[in-house]
Amino acid sequence: MAEQKATNITWHEGDVTRAEREQLTGQKGATLWLTGLSGSGKSTVACALEQALLHLGVNSYRLDGDNIRHGLNKNLGFSPEDRTENIRRIGEVAKLFSDACILTSTSFISPYAADRDIVRALHAEAKLPFIEIYIECPLEVAESRDPKGLYKKARAGEIKGFTGIDAPYEAPTNPELVIDTSKLSVEEAVETIIGYLRDNDLLAAE
Ligand code: ADX
Repeated sequence: MAEQKATNITWHEGDVTRAEREQLTGQKGATLWLTGLSGSGKSTVACALEQALLHLGVNSYRLDGDNIRHGLNKNLGFSPEDRTENIRRIGEVAKLFSDACILTSTSFISPYAADRDIVRALHAEAKLPFIEIYIECPLEVAESRDPKGLYKKARAGEIKGFTGIDAPYEAPTNPELVIDTSKLSVEEAVETIIGYLRDNDLLAAE
């Protein structure tokens, strides 16, 4: 848990309630938390999902692990502590986007179950939906895709602590959705997620 360092700070409540914001924007917010190995297809599915949702007229925004590590989280590496901080920060950011009534997807390996559970609890406390989506893919398949050539480097010992090789990945035990990208096409993955959002009345405000 991150320490609260600042003192003498006071929460300033806004004048717009969640219900009013939903009514005025016509939307509901939620966080779609994609977790899985590097090369499992998280970013590919998240990109296609974002495009499909926007074409349905639903405001959606994507927070991508590699991209966020170019900016907000550029001071973090891949030690267990840095990965925990990476997920803590993006969990907070996703919560803010969801609070703004945006369907927000995150595509981070997020290898530790405890870190993901903290983000889940954060959303529960804020009464915002947290949808954990396990982007399942056997290591052999992710490694054979190796889109960035990183598995090859990790096997050669040029990258230390690479997830799935010499760093752990803790698969979700009770995710809202499982998408096996070695079996489903990108289109089928997107349809599954949008179907879930529709079934749970998350595609528009009531
Ligand atoms: S996380 O573990 O902290 O959630 P994150 O999703 O932000 O990881 O970043 C993972 C991306 O960083 C991978 O897709 C890969 O491109 C790159 N990367 C570089 N080094 C590593 C490493 N040691 N383990 C995993 N991914 C790495």
